[in-house]
Amino acid sequence: MLNATSPAVPAVNDGLHVPAELDASLRMRQACISPKFLYDPLGSKLFEAICELPEYYPTRTEAAIFDLHGAEIARTVGTGATLIDLGAGNCAKAARLFPLLQPRQYVPVDISAEFLHDAVERLRQRFRHIDMLPLGLDFSARLDLPDRVRAERQLFFYPGSSIGNFAPHEALDFLQRVHAQCGRDGGLLIGIDLAKDHAVLDAAYDDALGVTAAFNLNVLRHVNRLLDADFDIRKWRHRGFYNPAEGRVEMHLEAQAAQQVTWRGGSRRFAAGEWIHTENSYKYRQSDAVGLLGQAGFASTRVWTDPRQWFAVIYARALSH
Ligand code: AVI
Repeated sequence: MLNATSPAVPAVNDGLHVPAELDASLRMRQACISPKFLYDPLGSKLFEAICELPEYYPTRTEAAIFDLHGAEIARTVGTGATLIDLGAGNCAKAARLFPLLQPRQYVPVDISAEFLHDAVERLRQRFRHIDMLPLGLDFSARLDLPDRVRAERQLFFYPGSSIGNFAPHEALDFLQRVHAQCGRDGGLLIGIDLAKDHAVLDAAYDDALGVTAAFNLNVLRHVNRLLDADFDIRKWRHRGFYNPAEGRVEMHLEAQAAQQVTWRGGSRRFAAGEWIHTENSYKYRQSDAVGLLGQAGFASTRVWTDPRQWFAVIYARALSH
């Protein structure tokens, strides 16, 4: 998941930075809420459900690439690494690779700490020989890992095209930080969603069952808890669509009626039809994705994709050899 973040800001509800950040974003002329707030415990479960939807192709397509090319990916990446799983969620994607990658240490990192710890408890029963160190952190702004993380052969794992939830300049900053952290013998295994037919993208982010709508609306419940706000969920509607001019899918919440919303330290009137921007999901051309990794300092890349070229799994090595 997106989850951007910093160990200095260890949890969404640390009560210090979050209210100020949310307060400021709700007061902006075009109100917005950072997508990291989509992932409270219920939001993380709703995202899991999204990944099961027929319309939401990224998870399935990425999994198919790993199924088909997993052995070759493992040969390229090597075994015995320190596997650092950024935005690990339920850890399922990494766990499927354990038999191939055989990590020495597994370090799942996610902003949704409670959800992560539950997932790791279950995983420990299945893989008793792997040292696991779950970290409940927001890693988007800073990437300082504690000393307990093995420094040797750090393999960062960033699947699911979470990189698409950053604006391109933020994605570059983020990848530069990963590159700086992973050392001479490290690398990054990343999944990136590719540009495709607009109708496919529209359906993926506005599914028939309304699971994505629930995921998006749930952010207001989360904000209500974090800020003692009084958003009335029934007065908002999900919008999810591809914006070709920006090369991204956008999610917004649209006010269904004029309303006053109040929170600790603030208040705002929303007009009927006014939008709150909650997420961007950039879609890359394969050449642009490879170019971005090069710009971030990675020396060489290998790309695996699916027959329709909807999604790319890329291994980027810190130094070429
Ligand atoms: C986590 N992230 C990569 C998802 C995406 O596709 O941008 C989040 C999501 N938003 C709506 N559906 C899924």
